[in-house]
Amino acid sequence: MSDVLNVPHIVKDSAEPGEQRTRRAFLIAAGAAGLAYTAALAYPIYRYLASPQEMEASATAVTEVTLKDAQKLLAGSVLMFKFGSSPAMLIHHQDGRWIALTAVCTHLGCTVQYESAADRIHCGCHGGVYNPYTGANVSGPPPKPLKLFKVAVGDAGVNVSRA
Ligand code: FES
Repeated sequence: MSDVLNVPHIVKDSAEPGEQRTRRAFLIAAGAAGLAYTAALAYPIYRYLASPQEMEASATAVTEVTLKDAQKLLAGSVLMFKFGSSPAMLIHHQDGRWIALTAVCTHLGCTVQYESAADRIHCGCHGGVYNPYTGANVSGPPPKPLKLFKVAVGDAGVNVSRA
């Protein structure tokens, strides 16, 4: 038989009250610094991943643009302009037709140029070629056509809107 008495065992914390506060403050500060460090690393990644959606949202936010005095554009000429945040072009063809298209290449996003002598839209980055009347991708690496906009020519300017 054991005659051991079950006396409650009291464990005394060796840390002094002021020392405990210092340790707690250190742990809180270390946790806050860890959170700040994680946020600093995560935010650029979030921006990188979210930017295509934000770019698309801002690109579609603008639905029309009025180009003052653009009705004076000579036949065979082009006017580059910004449609929202993206470059676009207004072409006044020799046959009198007005065509507006996005000027962003569907391959890797370079800005395309209208070449009136060759009557084509050309991308200098990899040699993509588009039809200047329909925006169709004719040759080279572009996988899709350029987007066409609606054009309304008035006395004060040319209104370009999403089709
Ligand atoms: S970006 Fe235009 S052809 Fe490659």
